[in-house]
Amino acid sequence: MTKMEFSCIILTLIMFLSLTCISPMTIGKGTEHKMYRGINLGNALEAPKEGEWGVIIKDEYFRIIREAGFDTVRIPIRWSAHADDDPPYKIDDEFFKMVDWVVNKSLEQGLITIINIHHYEDIMQDPAGHKMRFLALWSQISEHYKDYPENLYFELLNEPHGRLTGKIWNELLAEAIRIIRVTNPSRKIIVGPANWNSINGLDSLIILENDKNIIVTFHFYTPFEFTHQGAEWVHPPPPVGKKWLGTETERRQITSLLDEAVKWSKEHGNIPLFLGEFGVYWKADMDSRVRWTYFVAREAERRGIPWCYWEFCAGFGAYDPKERKWREPLLYALIPNPNKHFVSAITDYGNITGTGWYDEGTYATIKLDKTAMGFLVRNVLDHFEGLKSKDKIIDERTVQIYVDGPKEIRAVWRKDCTQLMLIVIAACISIGMLLFMMKRR
Ligand code: BGC
Repeated sequence: MTKMEFSCIILTLIMFLSLTCISPMTIGKGTEHKMYRGINLGNALEAPKEGEWGVIIKDEYFRIIREAGFDTVRIPIRWSAHADDDPPYKIDDEFFKMVDWVVNKSLEQGLITIINIHHYEDIMQDPAGHKMRFLALWSQISEHYKDYPENLYFELLNEPHGRLTGKIWNELLAEAIRIIRVTNPSRKIIVGPANWNSINGLDSLIILENDKNIIVTFHFYTPFEFTHQGAEWVHPPPPVGKKWLGTETERRQITSLLDEAVKWSKEHGNIPLFLGEFGVYWKADMDSRVRWTYFVAREAERRGIPWCYWEFCAGFGAYDPKERKWREPLLYALIPNPNKHFVSAITDYGNITGTGWYDEGTYATIKLDKTAMGFLVRNVLDHFEGLKSKDKIIDERTVQIYVDGPKEIRAVWRKDCTQLMLIVIAACISIGMLLFMMKRR
């Protein structure tokens, strides 16, 4: 091989690598582990009993997750349901074995693995009464995993809320960190604010800024009426049918909140942030879910915030456990495929088919099921907005879109009063004739 050929190969390799690797955010300096894109293995170990919420973690899941391009898995765990109620609040050995199995499988795949305390509902209602038990849980968990590799991360408590106010939480989290640090001096510890880990709660959070292995998490489900439409566990469930179109106002609602989180981090010694949960429940339409998920993930990345989608294979699931395959619209929204583009179509009436991710250079056939709707004053399809020169109009309700980038078309409808006018004219004629006949009589 000549020197020239060698340099060409090196140059090509560098170009290829710079195109395929989007610079990941490193959490904490000096470690080689990078948290970037993750997924929550939700509804499994945080259910009252494993399996009760329909998810049993399988060995294969971790390989599937890694191969799809995720580097992190967050495993919510309801430790409080598997520990004694009285001191020393011993955690059940069998449960520890189950968590060990899950953690080991995840670590074997090279995934950064986050374990937390999830759904400790009693502590939200009675923080003082459950303080010692909570600390005892962390004392046992941290002792148990102290020799585990450094890409096992601990997250103190999911979504503190209720009577566990910001002030009480700050005292409790400091004590929990002190306990963990005895056995795990440099393990990454994730902690989020009171008020459900919301960005609004950040201002009440007090964190030791001198501990460089602390990461601050927040959850993101804005707008809640959209992401949680039809969610049975919300009382009352927000009505279904709400779309997210990605309008300027909708986008700004998201970016301004994320900017607040970044501002808070800057004011607190650039403490690393982590978007630990975000997602849309299955009852929203898939196109809106894709638009929202893609937007939130990219906006977080743009700000250097690693994220974990909520969640893998239950109600928000990006993976279909029955079909044993990814729901591609959601997967590509999370992990973009450089050769695929999203073709989105918006209509105020009727149903549109054919939207989704398409390979570059192909055509997407977009079809409306109706071109007119209503009675008297009818809504009639006028045209499709957003068509480009390479797109084709097949018939009045069907267009083919050439995919050379992300596409968005909109069905434009107009009001048609012909029916109403005909009826008014007929009525006028009848009344006129009636009056005429009455006069003649
Ligand atoms: C809760 C889940 C819920 C999700 C979205 C999580 O923190 O633990 O039960 O489905 O948030 O609301």
